[in-house]
Amino acid sequence: MKKIVCESYKDMCRVAADIYTGQLKEKPNSVLGLATGSTPIGLYKELIRRYEAGELDFSNAQSFNLDEYYPIDSTHHQSYAYFMNEQLFDKINLSKTQIPSGAATDPMAECARYDEEICKAGGIDLMLLGIGHNGHIGFNEPATSYHVGAHLVSLTESSINANSRFFGADEKQPTEALTMGIGHIFSAKKIILLISGAAKAEITRKLFEGMIHTDVPACLLLLHPNLTIIVDKEANGE
Ligand code: F6R
Repeated sequence: MKKIVCESYKDMCRVAADIYTGQLKEKPNSVLGLATGSTPIGLYKELIRRYEAGELDFSNAQSFNLDEYYPIDSTHHQSYAYFMNEQLFDKINLSKTQIPSGAATDPMAECARYDEEICKAGGIDLMLLGIGHNGHIGFNEPATSYHVGAHLVSLTESSINANSRFFGADEKQPTEALTMGIGHIFSAKKIILLISGAAKAEITRKLFEGMIHTDVPACLLLLHPNLTIIVDKEANGE
């Protein structure tokens, strides 16, 4: 595991963008695993900037997102599909983008289809992750056992509360989601975990205790052979 502590969130995004630049140079047809949430927004901005400057080309690459609320239509402004279009997909030239469908009538069949698509693409080359305050990755919530494949999950109170900031008082917040399982996250060739802000200092400290807490899903990442954790000073407790 490699840990990089950055002075600021901006630096963190630049360091992460450098990893993408290296990845696409080495393998232009990379399969990228992507995340939503606040943390990757600055990275996505930097990737867009580099694309517009002609420094990055995604035309041979494709992506799979980690998760999507369920049920939700992709046109709903709170859906992760909508978020990704706004924050990244509409502004760069990825050849193909995939997100689990929150509108699927049969969520189990949708999860099986998503797993199959990831396998057909040859698995994820570079997986981007954020971390929940409770240590969740994707929407793999703290538990004593974990799904290998994509699955429908009931969100914990901690995750619902953390994401409530995105919802207006009159908007119904979904309590379930479709998420990639630990299996596809783990079989990614490289993983980057971004952690930013003082509110994540406690979970960051726990992550770096050097113990595998089975009820902190992100701890499982410490077993991955090619994991880079990029934290800003605040998340690092400085
Ligand atoms: C998002 C996802 C989540 C977030 C996590 C952190 O696709 O899978 O695991 O990465 O909840 O969210 P932020 O970045 O908003 O703190």
